[in-house]
Amino acid sequence: MRHKSWIIKDLLKVTADYLKEKEINSPRLTAEVLLSHQLNTDRVNLYLNFDQPLTEKEISGYRSLIKRRLRHEPIQYITGSQEFWSLDFMVDPQVIIPRPESELLVEQAINRVGANFAPQNQSPKILDLGTGSGALAISVAKEVPQARFWATDLSAAALSLARSNAEKHGVSERIQFMRGDLWDPIINLDITFDIIISNPPYITSEEYNDLAPEVRDYEPRLALDGHEGGMYFIEKIIQGGLDYLSPGGWLIMEMSPDQTEKALVLVEQIKGYGEKTRIKDYSHIYRVVMAQKVDS
Ligand SMILES: C[S@@+](CC[C@H](N)C(=O)[O-])C[C@H]1O[C@@H](n2cnc3c(N)ncnc32)[C@H](O)[C@@H]1O
Repeated sequence: MRHKSWIIKDLLKVTADYLKEKEINSPRLTAEVLLSHQLNTDRVNLYLNFDQPLTEKEISGYRSLIKRRLRHEPIQYITGSQEFWSLDFMVDPQVIIPRPESELLVEQAINRVGANFAPQNQSPKILDLGTGSGALAISVAKEVPQARFWATDLSAAALSLARSNAEKHGVSERIQFMRGDLWDPIINLDITFDIIISNPPYITSEEYNDLAPEVRDYEPRLALDGHEGGMYFIEKIIQGGLDYLSPGGWLIMEMSPDQTEKALVLVEQIKGYGEKTRIKDYSHIYRVVMAQKVDS
């Protein structure tokens, strides 16, 4: 790339062509998102200022962003943000980038709250186990203002980012963030929950090396690796869930499609769960398993 006399339109075209040649997904969109990030503006403004010349500093900054993407760094870590549930979340390499399919957990949690807690004066208690960026708890909190939340993670760095996201979205006073392994942080709290949502690590260790470099080399292994067979956390959560759910409360978990069947078998085998179901995501594959603690 030459330094002089570049205007936005030409720079975008050349960059998109280059990214395409290097087989980077969505080359034009990538070129636009990274240029708008560099110029601290939005993509619409790029189009409105197509003939604007760029300074050398802007071009060299843009070039470093493009280089990072060429090394397969996810665009969201470069820009530091990801939209989820129409909210903007800060992300960094200490947390996984929230995925669109996880919005299904948010949707189901909101539905359950609606079904069980119609009167607005009730205050459902919701646990987000392995909160990462906080995307799930924060999204539900925005929709259910009367609910109170507990959000846990083993990673202190993730919790710190989740707290910042909660503050950004004005829900930090209703979410208690706690660090620890799975149920450890809540063992002594003497609370049961109306809803437990979790998107635990569920990639099998065997599949790990075959993941796209964007995921394998940049997202935290702690957030992805579900150990041999990928069911380690899913099993622990299904088994432990009954101790922490209120009667009639729902466990809502994300997993991979082939794990949903195994999870349902496990739920069936454990005395204490009643109604159970699995739900397909927007790509029409089973993604979420839900189980209700019997209302005794
Ligand atoms: C797949 S990520 C989900 C993050 C977020 N809930 C989302 O949906 O975007 C799993 C999260 O579980 C956390 N985690 C991994 N092992 C854990 C453990 N033993 N106890 C608690 N959290 C754990 C990871 O740090 C990570 O943030």
